Amino acid sequence: MNATAIAHPNIALVKYWGKRDAALNLPATGSYSLTLAPIRTRTTVSWGQAEDRLVLNGAEAVGRPLTRIQRFLDLLRADHPSLGHAHVESDNDFPTAAGLASSSSGFAALALAATSAAGLSLSPAALSVLARQGSGSAARSLSGGFVEMQPGASPDGRDAFAVQRYAETHWDLRVLFALTTEGEKSIPSTVGMDQTVATSPYFQAWCDGVPAALRDVDAAVGAQDFERLASLAEASALQMHASAIAAVPGVLYWNGVTVELIHAVRELRAQGLPVFFTIDAGPHVKVFVEGHAAAAASAALREIPGVRGVFEARPGGDARIITDEPR
Ligand code: PMV
Repeated sequence: MNATAIAHPNIALVKYWGKRDAALNLPATGSYSLTLAPIRTRTTVSWGQAEDRLVLNGAEAVGRPLTRIQRFLDLLRADHPSLGHAHVESDNDFPTAAGLASSSSGFAALALAATSAAGLSLSPAALSVLARQGSGSAARSLSGGFVEMQPGASPDGRDAFAVQRYAETHWDLRVLFALTTEGEKSIPSTVGMDQTVATSPYFQAWCDGVPAALRDVDAAVGAQDFERLASLAEASALQMHASAIAAVPGVLYWNGVTVELIHAVRELRAQGLPVFFTIDAGPHVKVFVEGHAAAAASAALREIPGVRGVFEARPGGDARIITDEPR
């Protein structure tokens, strides 16, 4: 009745921003990401307990984080009431809820550990559908490498799951996380998305552009065409944020250093360094770089005033159950 899973976070090259069904957490569009290592979430689930408990990074969690986990566990309890309550122990070896994609690895690891501890063996698609209901980006973190999330067409969401397009060995890209603040992000992604869907005059335009972006990004990744990918991924990030900024009130995740980094990354690229930026629901900037240039790019980013730290990740593999690593 207990199991431990590891999942790696992912960063989107074509962003997911907006839901078509809030209750089922169905995305309005597809998305496309790269799963990253060595950073990871490790989660242990033990069913058959007296009450639900969440220990997150060593501390007992209450309020929104616990409620979110309980709602997720309810999805399994609906079909398997004998499971009862669960203890969930989860830790990240990178900052949690800071716009650094911890919900992607968090709900992927939880979906895998919770089903495995319950003795259920789900297909990769069914596991991705389950993880999606915890967090949209989590559907993509069950697979390693380059992953495409299919928005699906079915009202019940059964065809809204992610599939691997290229393995983590396909292309030696690195991602440099340039941290611009300490602490947790201000607007949860679900709140920012819902506000954008409800009030942004640019939301439909954002959605209309995603199918072509998905096709083009997949082709650029397949051909390892860095310049093309840089242009497409920066456009997707800026268009996502433009639609959010245009909501009423505007959903603005950036700080001044975020903007400095956008300019700096473009300047470095103009000087010949293979780098591009992307930004998620937080003020940090993730800089993609070809492996051979990672050290030079990292050194350049550390020089930028206001950058509080830079850490590097590389393409990562599938989420998995672990049996041999002590907690
Ligand atoms: O998985 P969520 O609900 O936290 O949404 C993730 C949203 C972005 O990180 C901004 C974009 C993406 O596709 O990962």
